[in-house]
Order: sequence, then structure tokens, then C-alpha cells
Amino acid sequence: MTEIPASGSMDEPIYKTDALIAEDIDAYLEMHQNKGLLRFITCGSVDDGKSTLIGRLLYDSKMIFEDQLAALEADSKRVGTQGQEIDFALLVDGLAAEREQGITIDVAYRFFTTEKRKFIVADTPGHEQYTRNMVTGASTADLAVILIDARKGVLPQTRRHSFLAHLIGIPHVVLAVNKMDLVDYDQSKFEHIVADYRSFAKSIGIDDFTAIPISGFKGDNITTAPSENTPWYKGPSLIDHLETVEIANTAAQEQSFRMPVQWVNRPNLDFRGFSGLISSGTARPGDAVRIVPSGKNSTIKSIVTMDGELEEAVAGQSVTITLADEVDCSRGDVISASDDPPEAADQFEATIVWMSDDKLIPGRGYQLKLATQTVNATIAEPKYEIDVNSLEHLAAKTLGLNGIGVAEVTTDRPITFEAYKDSRQLGGFILIDKITNATVAAGMIHFSLRRAQNVHWQATEISREQHADLKNQKPAVLWFTGLSGSGKSTIANMVEKKLNRMNRHTFLLDGDNVRHGLNKDLGFTEADRIENIRRVGEVAKLMADAGLIVITAFISPFRAEREMVRAMLPEGEFVEVHIDTPIEVAESRDVKGLYKKAREGKLKNFTGIDSPYEAPEKPEIRIDTTAMTPEEAADIIVDKLIG
Ligand code: ADX
Repeated sequence: MTEIPASGSMDEPIYKTDALIAEDIDAYLEMHQNKGLLRFITCGSVDDGKSTLIGRLLYDSKMIFEDQLAALEADSKRVGTQGQEIDFALLVDGLAAEREQGITIDVAYRFFTTEKRKFIVADTPGHEQYTRNMVTGASTADLAVILIDARKGVLPQTRRHSFLAHLIGIPHVVLAVNKMDLVDYDQSKFEHIVADYRSFAKSIGIDDFTAIPISGFKGDNITTAPSENTPWYKGPSLIDHLETVEIANTAAQEQSFRMPVQWVNRPNLDFRGFSGLISSGTARPGDAVRIVPSGKNSTIKSIVTMDGELEEAVAGQSVTITLADEVDCSRGDVISASDDPPEAADQFEATIVWMSDDKLIPGRGYQLKLATQTVNATIAEPKYEIDVNSLEHLAAKTLGLNGIGVAEVTTDRPITFEAYKDSRQLGGFILIDKITNATVAAGMIHFSLRRAQNVHWQATEISREQHADLKNQKPAVLWFTGLSGSGKSTIANMVEKKLNRMNRHTFLLDGDNVRHGLNKDLGFTEADRIENIRRVGEVAKLMADAGLIVITAFISPFRAEREMVRAMLPEGEFVEVHIDTPIEVAESRDVKGLYKKAREGKLKNFTGIDSPYEAPEKPEIRIDTTAMTPEEAADIIVDKLIG
């Protein structure tokens, strides 16, 4: 395995997440400031010659450092590559060693430069996580190189990659028909593949692409065209094309001005600026702007950078803007052209690309990040899933790894957005699992379903503090969780009696009871349990707003929903009580005979048997029912609450 020496040079491939890479990219851009930048991705598998092609691009642009080159030549000899050729695949695959050391790699970014342009290529590994990697690597790409093995022609993966590239909105596609040397540079083979691809590309909306016959291994049509071996080819070489293709940024500059605020820069009382990356348009001092979603208007006073004030800033620049008025504006807000501000809404239709092994759970709360905004969101059952091979729309209840579907998304507050087709920055989002913090999906907004402007919060005049004061108590939600038969209802009842005797205003919400009324439409599937807890959480919150001490007794098997309820309440008001009874004990009690039924297979989705229970990791109170009586447990809980 090749070891690439650590030289600390900018042109070494860097394996990092997008967030970390920003710094490196900035440094790189500074080095080659006067040249245009093209970001592109390569799609294909190692078998298609992807590694060899990337290695060749790096090598031919002479941006591999000498020490790396020496290592490469030595290695090529060692593995016995034929003739004089350097095996470029080694340059790229050598980095696999790094991967094996447990570094999480989504995308490898490589930098190289020619006389005309600088390039960032995101190399997305071709294994089964391709969807995730492509979406991560491609979200800012101007161009996709779709590699085809000339011997094999258009394959299902070619279609998948092209579909994804188009979905992500990559403006330019190059069809690189590789390994032409292995088909004797046969023109008809090339033309046949191009025709084949053209008819498919049309069907998914790719109207235009550039096809180039190449050999990554021999170097044909990479830097100069036409190669002697393909005199019949009249188009540009790959590098020629990469150097001259129009870059999308120019288009972004012509759109209306938007800058998502990343942070408020307030070094002292005299200065208050809003920092961020301009996602589209142009800004000049004196321009009228509107802050979205608040709708406040102001005027740009100045545009400040490290190197002084600017008379004009354009899409792609990071700047600090000061405003003429003292308006409220914070992280997540979007400063925009006042005559054409973006929309704010809390319900959308979107394409969702699922990137996690854990499937989508409709109704569950996920964290949604769009530009600099972070909100809670739930995804409805998909309207359909797209079969990326046949492009058929399939009925779906969820999405699994690499699944792509269309679904409604609801956020807990309005977010400022644009359709993805108009703005990748303000139309693209990611979903994060709240418990594991993993990115589980990427999404692209089509349009809003409900304008936030039409659903207002009605301000009420008697505050929650006044409600609580009148009752002379501090509201709380005592959230009991535990297996069926663990003793939740018994202990909860005792707690309520004790509090009642102490003149506390309480209310007990019990699973079995609520399921006869408010939630009688719900069963015990994962989705129904989530909805059960969501509704109970909302009711508990309203009751706490009314000043009550609420006691809930629900299995509430999932951490995510319990945490969702916690997040709905003011800090300290949610008290999680784990009634910790081992399943053997609960089963031996079997008060309602349900465990027996479940064991006999007469009751499906029974918690602890064929449906999971996620015990709390850090409950405020844990009650071991094997070590105390219900009475003692109730005392502990009341003490802790009132104590
Ligand atoms: S939860 O999972 O959605 O929180 P909840 O607490 O409302 O459940 O209801 C649980 C009660 O419903 C149990 O105590 C039991 O009496 C009854 N039940 C009926 N079917 C099931 C089942 N499949 N799994 C768990 N409890 C069930």
C-alpha cells in the first residue's frame, strides 16, 4: 500500500468533513486568487478507472509534489506496472490506509491548478454509501464527470450517478468514456455509448452534456486533444473543457441579494455587524434590505472585511454588513433585497435523500439545518420513493439507506428558504438525528405548502407565571417511563394522591386512559407510538402552562420523543422518572395478561418482546422497583420534586 508522505502541502488530498474543510479551501483560494475556481466531482467506481483519472489530472497538472511522485514511481515499480506508465490509481488508493485508521471519510477533496483555473475535485468513494458521499461532495459542485468504461457502456450505476448529479443541481455534465485504449479507440463504440447515454439523460432532464473519449491510463484526450489515437474526435480535451466551461457563480451574482447571517459581530458598543457568506446577488452601501423572517427593513450602511470597507460585495464573498438602523437580526436570519425577499414557511414539499442505516421514522423530530438556521422538523410518510434505476415512483412508508423520496416536511418555526432549483444554499438542508448527532439525510425544497404568515401565534394576556402564582406552585411535568407492567400507573397514582394532600394542583395523564379518548385512533406501531407521545407532550405542556404539576404514565419507549417533550418545556420543568423494572419481573407480574398474549404471538409489537424499549440514559429519577415498595418510590419522587 502506498504511503503518501505528509508534506503539509496544500495539494495533498485532505479528508475532512465540509465544515472542517472550509478553512483549507479558504487558504487554497487565497494562494491562487486571481484564477477562476471550478469545483467538480467524479462519479464512477474504481473499476471505471476513477482513481487513475484523478491521479492523471493531478500528475499532468504537475501539482503533485516531488516527494509524493518519487514514492509513487517506486511503488509502481514494486507492484510491477507495465512499461513506463505510473499507476495513478496507487496515488489515490494509497490513501485507503488513512481510511482504515478509522477516520470518518465522506469525501476526499483534492486541489490542483492549471494556468487558467484552479480546481477542487471531490472524489466520492464508490461503495454502497455512494449516495451519501455524492450528496456531500456534490452540493457545491459546478460539474460532474461521469465515468464510463468503454467496454461496458452505460450501466445502472451510470444512471444512478447521473440522476443524483441532476437532482443535486450540478449544472454541467461530462461523460468521460474511459479505457478507450482497451476498445482500440473504436469510434463507433464511443458513438454508440454516447447515443445510449443521450436518450437516458433526456429522460431525467439533462439536456446537455459533453462526451469525451479518454484513456486515463494512457493519457489520451486528458490534456491535449485530439489524441493521435482518436483522430475522429474533434472536441476538447478533458482539461480544456474543465478550464473553459462556464462557472455557475456568475449566475448567482445576477440573482437578488441574500446573506444568511452566520453570527452577530459585536466587539464593542459602537459596532454591530452581521457576518455571513453572500449566497446570491450583489450588495452595496445604501441598498435597501429586509431581514427575513422578521420583515424589518433597513439600509446597508457599510460592508466590512478584514482588508477594509468594500463598495460592492458579490455572491461567494464572506463579509460583515452593518445596517443604518438598530433592527433585530441574529444568526439564522437572512438579510435580503427588500424588493425581493425570500419566503418564510414552516411546511414544505421536498426531495429527501436518506443516508443512514436507520430508516426514516415519519413523525419523529429531527434537527433540520438550512444555511445558518437550525430548527426541529418532522417528515411525513413519503408520498413516493423514486427507483433510481427505473425512475419509477414507488409507494413507500419510509426511506432506507440511499433511498430517495418526496415527502412533506414540517418545522417547529418558520424558516427562510428558496426552492432548491433557485438556490442551492437556501433550498438545500440536512437532517440530523438528535440522539446520535449523525447526519441522516439531505433534502431539497420544492415549494412551501403553508405560508407561515398565515398561521400566527396569538399572544395571550395572562402569562404562565400568573397561572402558576395563583396556584402557589412551580409547574412541572413528571414524566414516567418504563415497560408495560413496570408499575408506572401505580406509583404515579400514589404520587398524585400525596401531592393532592399537600394542596398541589395536579393532573395525571395515563396511557391506558388517554388511549380511550384523545388517542383512540392510535395503535402500537412505531409511528403511532411517536404520535401518541407527541400529543401527550403537547397536552402536558399546555397543562404546565396552566400552572399544573402534570404526571404522565406512558411506556414512551423512544428516547427521541422523550427528549422532544423535554425540549418543549422550560429548563428544569421536565422531570424524567424511569420506573426501572427488569422485563422478567414485569412479565412474571403480567397484571393484564398481555405478556402471555405477546409470547403466544397473539399480540404484535409488544414493548420488550418484539418492539424496542430505549431506557433513559440520565433520568432525573430512577426507581428500582425490585428494591422498594411503590409507597417508598412515591415518597422519593415527591421529596425530589417538593423537597
Ligand atoms: S406507548 O408505547 O405509546 O407509550 P402507552 O403507554 O400509551 O404506550 O400504552 C401502553 C399500554 O397499552 C400498556 O400498558 C398496555 O396495557 C397496552 N398495550 C396494548 N398493546 C400493547 C403493545 N403492543 N405494546 C405495549 N403496550 C400495549
